[in-house]
Amino acid sequence: MRLVLLGAPGAGKGTQAALIKERHGLAHVSTGDIFRENLKNSTPLGFEAKKYMDAGQLVPDETVMKMVGEKLAEFAADEGFMLDGFPRTVAQAEFLEGKTKLDGVILFNVDDEAIVKRLSSRAVCKDCGNVTTRLEHDKCPSCGGELYTREDDNEQTVRSRLKVFHEQTEPLVKFYRDRNLLLEVDAGQKPEEVFARVVELLDHDKN
Ligand code: AP5
Ligand code: MG
Repeated sequence: MRLVLLGAPGAGKGTQAALIKERHGLAHVSTGDIFRENLKNSTPLGFEAKKYMDAGQLVPDETVMKMVGEKLAEFAADEGFMLDGFPRTVAQAEFLEGKTKLDGVILFNVDDEAIVKRLSSRAVCKDCGNVTTRLEHDKCPSCGGELYTREDDNEQTVRSRLKVFHEQTEPLVKFYRDRNLLLEVDAGQKPEEVFARVVELLDHDKN
């Protein structure tokens, strides 16, 4: 199975990807995570991406497509994966279409104000990368590691990211609907309820 996880910042793509990975054994490719990993390792790609990420803007298509193209080339022809946070522009979607056939695009719908609230309490584990919320945890519930707040999770940057999502990424809803690939989920519910709906859609899609 080859899937795209589509949705605004904070819609829960990473959270659901972890659950889908556990159930379906699919590789999880998050472009945001790859940029943050590059930054941690002080690579030129990491420094280039940081300028855009800190401003809540998209990294230029050319850079992202080159990076994703290299990543996709690592997969065997029959290997499944989920792309989380890619594509985000029509140009990226057209690029992907030229590279691989998709089985579905899951769209996570949440309203903007709920997202601003969610991201104000997001915490990420320094050790295992697990995504959680400070409302419930002060240590990583998965490995006990220390939690940190992403630099782009301040309200001003979150609002820029939402604006960019509506302007540049939302056109992909029509793009994938027209190709009969869109699977929509109400992601404003609890994570386990969202996941139950995802499972229902994926099982239905397979049959
Ligand atoms: P990226 O890291 O992909 O960030 P994003 O798309 O803004 O999405 P997030 O990771 O913030 O949210 P998420 O949907 O994964 O939600 P999560 O599960 O963590 O990208 C960062 C930046 O990199 C971009 O801004 C851009 O600059 C650059 N970039 C990346 N890809 C690019 C591309 N293709 N082109 C150009 N630039 C690119 O959940 C969020 C919080 O909510 C957590 O605290 C979680 O515990 C909680 N939560 C999750 N689900 C629920 C629920 N159902 N109910 C309540 N709380 C929930
Ligand atoms: Mg994410």
